[in-house]
Amino acid sequence: MAVSIKSAREIELMRESCKLLEDVFAQMEAIVRPGISTKDIDRLGEKLIREKGCTPNFLNYNGYPASICVSVNDEVVHGIPHKDHILDEGDIVSLDAGLIYKGYHSDMARTFGVGEISEEAKQLIKATRQSFFEGIKMAKAGNHLYDISNAIDAYITPFGYGIVRDLVGHGIGTKLHEDPQIPNFAQKRRGVRLEAGMTLAVEPMINAGRADVEWLDDDWTVVTEDGSLSAHYENTILITDGEPEILTMNGLCE
Ligand code: MF3
Ligand code: CO
Repeated sequence: MAVSIKSAREIELMRESCKLLEDVFAQMEAIVRPGISTKDIDRLGEKLIREKGCTPNFLNYNGYPASICVSVNDEVVHGIPHKDHILDEGDIVSLDAGLIYKGYHSDMARTFGVGEISEEAKQLIKATRQSFFEGIKMAKAGNHLYDISNAIDAYITPFGYGIVRDLVGHGIGTKLHEDPQIPNFAQKRRGVRLEAGMTLAVEPMINAGRADVEWLDDDWTVVTEDGSLSAHYENTILITDGEPEILTMNGLCE
């Protein structure tokens, strides 16, 4: 497994790609409310990406039929937007988006509440977000990749939540998915040594109930097997000799 190290010029392009994506994301978040369809979010996201002169990297990726993944409640990831899927008060909705700017990919995800949501849902979303930050405390040159995985697991497990095992984070750069794969659960080995200039998409997917997931007949939508809620939190980060730089977090999106 070869993990690419980005040059100074490539890092600049990654920064710009991620900044543009964060702006798209903030504008998508702004329309999330009861009554809109999941397709409305996809349409807006694709329009904004193209207005910036960028390309949606999810569209047609292995045949995925939309630009934005919109996953509601027990849908974990890769929900396919549909005009008849209307968001309801109390739903939680995970948006996952990415784009290509001058050949460089960005990728991020957040879970939002639609109107007022339950305390349980709020806690799940909050813990999923925090698990990302616990993970990336370990994300610095000289540490090992699975230090990140172990830290996410150690934080989430006491909640009794299920950590999704069938899907993982990934390296990112001139491709959406590069080496290495980044599991969100504890590993026995250490994984590759982290080096400055690696760009990674760290993305815990956490279920309120059990970890098991299944695929719907559309072959894309991943749902929890037990029907419990699921949350997702993802940023593209840059490994440095000190703190990682969170490239998709420049103040527009928490
Ligand atoms: N953000 C997702 C990931 O990291 C990408 C969605 S896959 C797609 O794997 F096919 F929908 F693009
Ligand atoms: Co990703």
